[in-house]
Amino acid sequence: MEQIHVLGMSGSLRKGSYNTALLAAASELLPEGMTLERFDLSSIPLYNDDVRVLGYPKPVQELRDRIAAADALLIATPEYNYSIPGVLKNAVDWASRPPDPPLSGKPLAIVGASTGNFGTVRAQMHLRQVCVYCNMFPVNRPEVLVMRAREKFDASGRLADEDARGFLRDLLVALADWTRRLRGDDFNE
Ligand SMILES: Cc1cc2nc3c(=O)[nH]c(=O)nc-3n(C[C@H](O)[C@H](O)[C@H](O)COP(=O)(O)O)c2cc1C
Repeated sequence: MEQIHVLGMSGSLRKGSYNTALLAAASELLPEGMTLERFDLSSIPLYNDDVRVLGYPKPVQELRDRIAAADALLIATPEYNYSIPGVLKNAVDWASRPPDPPLSGKPLAIVGASTGNFGTVRAQMHLRQVCVYCNMFPVNRPEVLVMRAREKFDASGRLADEDARGFLRDLLVALADWTRRLRGDDFNE
């Protein structure tokens, strides 16, 4: 069975981010045949179409190349004011533009952690809406909504909650199946 290389992105830039910690947890829970690397969005400048027409800035080109080379994406989004953070939307905007928008046709899984009671559900729905225009193909389920994150991660930042780890593990398996389906592999082999 062919390997699936996943690129992970967190919509939070802070060091102690629960969402970045979710990506770290995913690295521990990968199914056989899947790899996960992370792209840190802190180097991505604000979108400016005048800049784009002159040529993508180096960090943006690197992001676009890494997305293009990945078989699938794993996006961990915080919820900011009922939506996705500007950091994440900005990166999506850069990666959605021509030539050959690297997001187009890309399978992805969405996860999120919040300190409140709703586990980023509203942000995740907004991200799914963004995926429509970008022609991205998110896995529908299981949903990974880590609510009350302070109770679910231990002092070292490790995802300690067994239920959340189980949902995350199942989502990664679903992402592997989905990616193989979309690229036409016989995933039953
Ligand atoms: C600007 C801002 C807006 C926020 N808005 C929401 C919100 O709409 N819903 C929510 O559940 N939490 C909200 N929060 C709280 C975040 O869920 C919490 O800060 C979370 O830890 C951020 O993710 P991180 O740990 O990955 O940085 C907001 C936080 C910030 C900084």
